[in-house]
Amino acid sequence: MKLWGGRFSKETDSLVDDFNSSIRFDARMYRQDIEGSIAHATMLGKQEIIPYENSVLIVKTLNEILADIEDGKVEFSVDAEDIHMNVEKLLIERIGDVGKQLHTGRSRNDQVALDLRLYLREQCDDICDMLMELTKTLKALASKNISVIMPGYTHLQKAQPILFSHHLLAYLEMYRRDISRLRECRERLNISPLGSGALAGTTYPLDREYVAEMLNMDGVTVNSLDGVSDRDFAIEVCFVMSMIMMHTSRFAEEIILWSSNEFGFVELDDAFSTGSSIMPQKKNPDVAELARGKTGRVYGDLIALLTVMKGLPLAYNKDMQEDKEQVFDAVDTVKMTLPVFTKMLDTMTVNSETMRNAALKGFTNATDAADYLVKNGMPFRDAHKVIGEIVAYCIKSNKAIEDMSIGEFKSFSELFENDIYEAVSLENCVNLRDVTGGTATNQVKQQL
Ligand code: ARG
Repeated sequence: MKLWGGRFSKETDSLVDDFNSSIRFDARMYRQDIEGSIAHATMLGKQEIIPYENSVLIVKTLNEILADIEDGKVEFSVDAEDIHMNVEKLLIERIGDVGKQLHTGRSRNDQVALDLRLYLREQCDDICDMLMELTKTLKALASKNISVIMPGYTHLQKAQPILFSHHLLAYLEMYRRDISRLRECRERLNISPLGSGALAGTTYPLDREYVAEMLNMDGVTVNSLDGVSDRDFAIEVCFVMSMIMMHTSRFAEEIILWSSNEFGFVELDDAFSTGSSIMPQKKNPDVAELARGKTGRVYGDLIALLTVMKGLPLAYNKDMQEDKEQVFDAVDTVKMTLPVFTKMLDTMTVNSETMRNAALKGFTNATDAADYLVKNGMPFRDAHKVIGEIVAYCIKSNKAIEDMSIGEFKSFSELFENDIYEAVSLENCVNLRDVTGGTATNQVKQQL
């Protein structure tokens, strides 16, 4: 018989049991469920809502159940629906009537809201650590290649020379924001809903703050309806996961381009690439491609969860059981992606010569040539036109700006002198961009 079977005269149909049960995916919250129950039972004893010695026995038995689950000695049952009732059923099997007192002043509605918060709190911490590792790797890679010059792009067309280290540190900034988003998200979710009961609060003199403190939470929810209905925190986690994946996917896309024969900027380590079953020459960037591809499923998780929640009246509805698979998938995917992506970057070879040669082509110094004329008295718009004509001329005669003789330069403007060659050198283009946040070596060192 079900723990809630009192008012029923028939057994649940097995189709309903299978459909309704969440144990196959919420079992992973067993530890958080038991931690929450231990805090609740301790508080019930302290408040003399149940006899103190009963609370002690409940806590002791819950700890034993936890150890047994961890030792693989427990088999959960679909019949008991979810992790909450599985644990309670085990408790009652072991200590009978005393076990039946655990659920006093509590509903599965506030219980599941608590468990998910505790579970996601840990996930936020784990993912923060992984992002810290990734940012450390980026920082090391940038330091090691501090003065390597590459072409910077807009519209995927060569634009201006930049430091490769500057490019890497752009991703570091994105991940730093993700870390701060995760920390804020953790702060918002670290609030205890226990005491909200089914929806309206509870008649027992619970000490909600005591429970929150036992669970290292920063406070208690202030509205019982909101306490059991809110899944913003899970949606926020999915959003932050989506953002992390979006950043990783952009980076992955660049790695894929850079490791192509056409670019040749980097070479992935053999241990982080894969081959083809038919083409013997192939070395494919599968890790980066999967990171890019998995971004789609994480977005899907976010949209699914937003959609589950959009039409729900207050307070709890069973639809909300659909939150877990989505948010679990999102965090699982990020946790699978970040470590392998980090190692792939860490082991990648940087072809600095190829990058530099690529920066020498495509007129990446054209802006600097125009700036040269401006510094010598020409209005920028006019300088832009002159250099545009020079570029057209160079394309026709198949040369770079710096390949022109001083005579050729002077045929476009009398303002050109011999120092134009230095002005358009790659080092100059990079190091003159010495504004805060610019690509000059000075500034990149500052960022580092
Ligand atoms: N397994 C349920 C869930 O994940 C727990 C809450 C059930 N509450 C209820 N009133 N049926 O949402």
